[in-house]
Amino acid sequence: MKKDLIFLGIETSCDETAASIIKKSKKGDIKILSNIISSQDQVHKKYGGIVPELAARAHTEKIEKIIKKAISESGLSLNQITGISSTAGPGLLVCLMVGMTAGKTISKFLNKPFYGINHLEGHALTIGLIKKMDFPYLLLLISGGHTQFLSIDGLGKYKRLGTTIDDALGETFDKTAKILGIEFPGGPKIESFAKKGNHNVYNLPKPILYRSGCNLSFAGLKTAVLQTSRKIKTQQDKYNLAASFQYTINEILKVKCKIAFKMFLDKHDKIKNKNFVISGGVASNISIRQNLKKISSEFDFNTHYPPVSLCTDNAAMIAWAGLLNYEAGKKANIKLLSQPRWPLDKKAPFMKGPGLVL
Ligand code: KG4
Ligand code: ZN
Repeated sequence: MKKDLIFLGIETSCDETAASIIKKSKKGDIKILSNIISSQDQVHKKYGGIVPELAARAHTEKIEKIIKKAISESGLSLNQITGISSTAGPGLLVCLMVGMTAGKTISKFLNKPFYGINHLEGHALTIGLIKKMDFPYLLLLISGGHTQFLSIDGLGKYKRLGTTIDDALGETFDKTAKILGIEFPGGPKIESFAKKGNHNVYNLPKPILYRSGCNLSFAGLKTAVLQTSRKIKTQQDKYNLAASFQYTINEILKVKCKIAFKMFLDKHDKIKNKNFVISGGVASNISIRQNLKKISSEFDFNTHYPPVSLCTDNAAMIAWAGLLNYEAGKKANIKLLSQPRWPLDKKAPFMKGPGLVL
């Protein structure tokens, strides 16, 4: 007999301490009962990036309070939950360990199943919290640590079509922001600077645009931003550089998405509903959203975005992935250790560093 499924999710892979309770009723209705996120922007902003030890300390200080808040806001008691899931990786080891230890402790104490979840699987499946999404679909994951095109073929069946060979897109936004004197995390501020600038002022490079399939590269673009920034004098110059940067990103994504669409359709030649899901923090950027929507419609793909609160790191996506794994009868894995490196597609080759042949 079917029963209500309720999962507690915990996320501490980077600089957000988060906990959430998700319920899937026996009728199939899905509800986010609570979604608590505590960001560490204030802790890291003076360093221009995340300092792992400080992040881990902040997680340790807050984790208990955040979990308690998620439970009390859900209106449920802890013993009503079906299972617990924590992000097991990829991420900063010292940070992952905080959420994993908390999740495993609750699991042991309550004698409920525990699932260590891949953070990228969380981003990949988030859309299912909002709407019914049949497999397979094409995913573009654009976050602070990852930039990948993936064919999401089923639960646990993820095929990487392309990836960045150097910096992630969010990281590129943050580094550009730092160059322009904007505090970490600068992505959203670059977007607001870009609105006030002229994108035709600076001509920036688009590395490996017509090479290496839908793999991407942003390191050369970041270097060009640094060199150009040495010539700028006024605030308007900064706005123009931000606009030119964001415009260049959109041009790169346009070409790479077209290649990814083709690769996805070659793999799924009989597919009827072509769905393109964009997830991760950078998917909050309105200009990128509009650009991707336009390209998708040219190729008959329907575009889907989780709401901004579920695009950036959160624990609802981890609870959801845990619940789906449990529902599918996958084995609980309390013995799993934190996995700082954990590719979603294990068969895909490692694509970073010198010596790559593209
Ligand atoms: O998914 P996320 O919250 O964390 C990771 O898993 O990395 O993504 C954070 C990244 C940061 O690099 C941040 O600057 C970027 O997403 N970001 C944006 C915007 N909002 C967040 N980048 C560009 N435009 C935005 N509006
Ligand atoms: Zn993320």
